[in-house]
Amino acid sequence: MPATLLDDAPRTVLNRLFTAADQDGPALLALRDQFSGEVDVSQAAVAAEAAAEIYMPVAPEVGQLLYLLTRGLTRGRDAALVVEFGTSFGISTIHLAAALRDNGGGRVVTTELVETKAHAARENLAEAGLADLVDVRIGDAFETLRDLPGSIDLLLLDGWNQLYLPLLRLLEPSLAPGALVVADDVTLFAEETRGYLDHVHDPANGYLSTALPFDDGIDLAIRL
Ligand SMILES: C[S@@+](CC[C@H](N)C(=O)[O-])C[C@H]1O[C@@H](n2cnc3c(N)ncnc32)[C@H](O)[C@@H]1O
Repeated sequence: MPATLLDDAPRTVLNRLFTAADQDGPALLALRDQFSGEVDVSQAAVAAEAAAEIYMPVAPEVGQLLYLLTRGLTRGRDAALVVEFGTSFGISTIHLAAALRDNGGGRVVTTELVETKAHAARENLAEAGLADLVDVRIGDAFETLRDLPGSIDLLLLDGWNQLYLPLLRLLEPSLAPGALVVADDVTLFAEETRGYLDHVHDPANGYLSTALPFDDGIDLAIRL
């Protein structure tokens, strides 16, 4: 049984990217000081440019979790669709695409506001041997994700946290029944993600959800 994440090319790229991301610390603290509180859509672009050099990736164990969830969910499917909010340099995207590769195909649509990051992510995906499975869309998720090639099987929310709920509401009509919605950083940014968590933890809104104690907090929801 294949396990692309163990192959030399993706492993080499991921090792390099995670090592580079280890240097995020001081720049990340400065960014958080600058943009604490509510981030509306217009501020999102300013904050993204300020973070143009900052990786802010999912933790390695969260990457593994994304691989496992995607692989389990899309097994036996040849037209699976994974959508990601917040590409950065492509670390999470590599995990998502590796799972689709091992299941025989599918598509990751991912989006990034910062053009230089999106280009770097494309190069990293190519180096990992996964570029053919991924559509990296440059621009604001509220525009770039309006047009999707099918219904969503797995949605990863990993852009600015205050935008999780409005973006989910935009994409809700495109979620397949049984789709998984994974939200990163929900413990670290509990205040910013409260509206989102209230929404997906109320079954009246059509979700069942649970919190997972990975890194800065993962919330996992299934669309009923
Ligand atoms: C936490 S990082 C993503 C990390 C990435 N998922 C990984 O694991 O490597 C968040 C990214 O979301 C991007 N972003 C924020 N708001 C966005 C928006 N409205 N549309 C597209 N990208 C956005 C930022 O520029 C930033 O690079």
